[in-house]
Amino acid sequence: MNTKEVIAQYDKYVMSTYGRIPTVIVRGKGLKVWDLDGNEYLDFFPGWAVTGLGHCHPKVVNAVRSYLKKIIHVSNNYYNMLQGKLAQKIIENSFEGKVFFCNSGAEANEGAIKLARSYGNASGARYEIITMENSFHGRTLATITATSQPKYQKGFEPLPLGFKYVTFNDIKAVENAITDKTIAIMLEPIQGEGGINVASEGYIKALRVLCDKKDLILIFDEVQTGVGRTGKMFCFEHYGITPDIMTLAKALGGGLPIGAMVASKKFADILKPGMHASTFGGSPIACSAALAVFEAIKKEKLLSNTVRMGEYLLEKLNK
Ligand SMILES: Cc1ncc(COP(=O)(O)O)c(C=O)c1O
Repeated sequence: MNTKEVIAQYDKYVMSTYGRIPTVIVRGKGLKVWDLDGNEYLDFFPGWAVTGLGHCHPKVVNAVRSYLKKIIHVSNNYYNMLQGKLAQKIIENSFEGKVFFCNSGAEANEGAIKLARSYGNASGARYEIITMENSFHGRTLATITATSQPKYQKGFEPLPLGFKYVTFNDIKAVENAITDKTIAIMLEPIQGEGGINVASEGYIKALRVLCDKKDLILIFDEVQTGVGRTGKMFCFEHYGITPDIMTLAKALGGGLPIGAMVASKKFADILKPGMHASTFGGSPIACSAALAVFEAIKKEKLLSNTVRMGEYLLEKLNK
């Protein structure tokens, strides 16, 4: 098949939910990708923040390949060898608690929303979640509602109840929005889709104090900022506080789909058997890839490299 034929096949059989560049990518290695016509590209767009290690990182490829020969799917009715290991790795690199595995960022955020509501409803009909203007949390019904951008919500009404929006980086706005129905505050520490807006240290610290004072759950959506992207393993580390819940996806699987919802000790056992699930969540193949990502970040000192490259790019781009 040539490029034209592949595109024609998409046009006929694939729902047109994306505005695609008319290029068929067939191969990737490190910083480079190749298209069906043999053109080579330097990939400045690592798949919506997924390919943090570059394409087909050898550690990820080898880990996945060797596990594929053993078993591909293990249902969550059983245990597999890697899910607990990956959870331990995430916890050891973040804060004390437990992990729920799923397949995407939206799904991780859905899990966080459900956990928050479950805790809130049990402690006095508290279900409202405050999120930020210009946020982005995913494309499911609950997460487009958490996403305070009308363009993602329009046409999909009625939206789920219980979300309130405030200006980002404005602690007074949050304080004013809290009612006796509020259970959580959810935000990206650096807004991605909203335009690379960085939460100030004072703001995050004040949010932590506010949540402690009012028994509210502080949810960090680290789907974009997590797994080394900001020069720390997780962005919350820049602020000297820990969130109560952190959601991850994107770069976590080195290109394979995996999502995770990490809850601190206090909230780690709210969701009981039967309350939440995901068929493919924490599959050994996805976990093998994510474990290889952690290993690569550590062994290849990629966090310090991220800082160095970030400074270099900033300086040159500013010039
Ligand atoms: C901050 C943030 N949260 C959640 C999501 C949704 O992730 P997914 O597309 O894996 O559902 C995204 C995707 O761009 C995101 O940037």
